[in-house]
Amino acid sequence: MNTPRFAHDIVHHIRHHFEDPARIIEVLSDAGISDNRPARAVLYLAGGSISMFEHYVREAKRDIYDVLLWAEYEDKIDGHPVKLRDMNNPLAGSGAEHGIDFQPVSNALRSDVESLGVYEHQQSFIASNRRLLDQASAEPAMVPQAIFGGGVLVGFVMHEIHNPRVASIHRLMIDAPHQSKGYGRRAMLALMQELTDRGIETIYLSFRPENDVARSFFSSLNFVHETDEEDGEVVYRHGPSLPL
Ligand SMILES: CC(C)(COP(=O)(O)OP(=O)(O)OC[C@H]1O[C@@H](n2cnc3c(N)ncnc32)[C@H](O)[C@@H]1OP(=O)(O)O)[C@@H](O)C(=O)NCCC(=O)NCCS
Repeated sequence: MNTPRFAHDIVHHIRHHFEDPARIIEVLSDAGISDNRPARAVLYLAGGSISMFEHYVREAKRDIYDVLLWAEYEDKIDGHPVKLRDMNNPLAGSGAEHGIDFQPVSNALRSDVESLGVYEHQQSFIASNRRLLDQASAEPAMVPQAIFGGGVLVGFVMHEIHNPRVASIHRLMIDAPHQSKGYGRRAMLALMQELTDRGIETIYLSFRPENDVARSFFSSLNFVHETDEEDGEVVYRHGPSLPL
């Protein structure tokens, strides 16, 4: 089968979200997905997660119309599907409109991401990036992403989609020399927009209670206190209180 020639936004999206772009195109091609609209639908629903991508490719092979329905419509009014998106249109950029860029943590990037660090007084606030990347290797639903600002690696963020309405952000860190320059806020705005665009209503995250910068930062983004965890972390929530 010939390799499909997808529109520029699709190629851009694949390059920015997946470690092995050629493999993603091959999987789409093997599944007979060669048109832009179904390819966008699968990628949109996958939200950068390889396990979700594989899931929606399987669903597309079963019934492509179901996948188009999930990507383009939502049950908003009295259970009737309402068209909210059109997969004939280009996929929204990833962070570009916020002046930052997300890239998957490829093997080539991994050691650079592991060597990003926070200030000494912040070290007790977060586990190491290496530990989170190990967790991501073991749990395919995790989406670890490197944050680039002006082409320079400035931070690391990792999220997980629990179900079509709920996601968690497990890590946001900006490398100490790049902090207080607006990258954290722009990365959060870009990720929140990306998640909201794909139908996520609620985002959970947690931080140490003594992390005052995190508390005021996330509060300014309309996160509110949800609960306290046994290990002492406080859980904050954006959107309605929905179960994971
Ligand atoms: C929290 C963090 C991600 C913010 O990223 P950042 O790029 O430094 O933040 P920004 O420059 O985008 O500023 C965002 C907000 O953070 C706060 N902030 C940033 N630097 C601050 C500082 N030196 N002192 C006080 N508040 C500060 C402010 O509330 C700021 O809001 P403003 O833009 O209205 O001033 C970053 O400080 C960090 O990596 N901290 C260590 C890891 C951590 O605590 N992660 C979050 C909990 S898991």
